Amino acid sequence: MKSPKLLIRPLVRELQPYVYGEQPKIKGLIKLNTNESPYPPSPKVLAAVRAAVDGRLRLYPNPTAQALREKLAKLHGCHADNIIVGNGSDELLALATRCFVEPNVEQASSLFKKENTGRRPVPRHIVQYFTPSYSLYPVLADIHGAARNAVPLKSDFSLPGMAELKRGRIWNFRAALSFVTTPNAPSGRGYSTRELDALCKAQHGVVVLDEAYVDFAGENALKLALKYPHVLVARTFSKAYSLCFQRVGYFVGHRDLIAALHKIRDSYNVNGLGQIAAEATLDDLPYYRANFKKIITTREWLSRELTKLGFRVLPSRTNFILVRPARFSAQAWLQSLRVQKALVRWFDRPEVKNYLRITIGTAAEAEALVNVVRKILV
Ligand SMILES: Cc1ncc(COP(=O)(O)O)c(C=O)c1O
Repeated sequence: MKSPKLLIRPLVRELQPYVYGEQPKIKGLIKLNTNESPYPPSPKVLAAVRAAVDGRLRLYPNPTAQALREKLAKLHGCHADNIIVGNGSDELLALATRCFVEPNVEQASSLFKKENTGRRPVPRHIVQYFTPSYSLYPVLADIHGAARNAVPLKSDFSLPGMAELKRGRIWNFRAALSFVTTPNAPSGRGYSTRELDALCKAQHGVVVLDEAYVDFAGENALKLALKYPHVLVARTFSKAYSLCFQRVGYFVGHRDLIAALHKIRDSYNVNGLGQIAAEATLDDLPYYRANFKKIITTREWLSRELTKLGFRVLPSRTNFILVRPARFSAQAWLQSLRVQKALVRWFDRPEVKNYLRITIGTAAEAEALVNVVRKILV
């Protein structure tokens, strides 16, 4: 028999997969590498999940997460038809790629001809995003065999203005799908709804505003998903709502786009305990809002302390900070911190390789991190 590798599609064989943050189980580790909340889910959420662990586990869950979608619709002032829930928002980002982007140029260009009704058509095969932003987007484009258009943010990680985007001619206003991480990851930078509105307005293809970290920012752009038929807002229960383990995320947007995504998802894409946990989360929002406040206070404290120690800390609207360390390279800091049992994230990507991304933990974890940094600096 020939090598089993030859049975794999060349596209998959050559694929550079997404690089996950590590999940090591080391006792006493200060784990600040994957932007999880340092606080557990609300006691009411834990009680709801525990109460659901019985003989009902033999049954399939609700296929459309109906009750959860209805609660989310009430929260966001829209209809359940404007919402799709996924196995984490990652699943929905992948579904969006499959739903709105043609996998290859030839197929896309034959569609251009068919669809051309006098207006300039949308290049169906282009997935577009700013760099640096969430490193899953290029992988999703690659998995799908689509073309990527990576457009650099400005050197301070702000969004290029509309005039600049138009002048630069790199940003494609007709790309089939554009992902915008807002607030941005891994820089932590926030974008105003006004600038996002201008970008969405000018865009012809679908825009996904990925608001995974928005609860730690001052404003959100949800209203754009209800204003523009081609804009989807992605949210997740993972980060701010302490539910990474359960994998629940959702999109809000025009019912036609949402209906198309429902068509291509797995029948039971959101597990039953995840649905129950997310519903109970929405019944106890004050608990989470108190956590956001604590995380923001710790973020500001840690930023000040690291600045005093010579680090350059970028302003953040998220539950992590991007810092340019003092004295040694970021990669050397990653290793030294690890030896001291503090785990942070370093990305081997040109735009951010001089930085470390540090998740905001509890106040005690932040203090412990500062002590470790002081120890390394002496
Ligand atoms: C910008 C961004 N979007 C989406 C996600 C995925 O979140 P989820 O856990 O809902 O799949 C992440 C997770 O790291 C993220 O950083």
